[in-house]
Amino acid sequence: MILIGFMGAGKSSVGRALGQRLGWTFEDLDERIELREQRKVSEIFRDSGEAEFRRAEHAALNELLNELSGGAERIVALGGGAFAQRENIDVIEASQAVTVFLDAEAAELWRRCREQAAEQKTERPLLISRHSFRDLYESRRPHYLKASFRQDTGGQTVDEIVGALVEALGLSPSSKK
Ligand code: S3P
Repeated sequence: MILIGFMGAGKSSVGRALGQRLGWTFEDLDERIELREQRKVSEIFRDSGEAEFRRAEHAALNELLNELSGGAERIVALGGGAFAQRENIDVIEASQAVTVFLDAEAAELWRRCREQAAEQKTERPLLISRHSFRDLYESRRPHYLKASFRQDTGGQTVDEIVGALVEALGLSPSSKK
């Protein structure tokens, strides 16, 4: 199962909590990129630019999808830009993995990202201004809506979102999705 959505959607925290609940492995694509590249996402953006980050992201995604096709019970969180790149959407659709869009309004996503930045939990190179954040959100949302399933996350806790997903998708520790 692949979790997609904009920055601040809760892809990593929901993915981790859902993995714990189901006993499935959780993986964050950005962490795989950092391991492969031996540097932080923010350093790739700063030293090599976004185009190089997208190249590294696509390579890591391909590697991951090859592993998923082995039928492993696994939840994967993508970075916010991954499901907005044509070449990534194509390989994900071809893999037939279930995609889940964690949705929320731009204002709430901005607030969550600002709170995480203030707590120094995350470094987000594309968290620049409220205006550019909203523009990026608007341009990507049509791509996210191509996911197999959309889950609203507005005003909900991680536990509430996990509960809603388990129910809506009929997930249980033994089921394979
Ligand atoms: C990005 C989102 C980030 C990370 C990178 C680019 C984006 O992941 O992949 O900074 O383009 O929206 P999160 O969505 O987990 O913040």
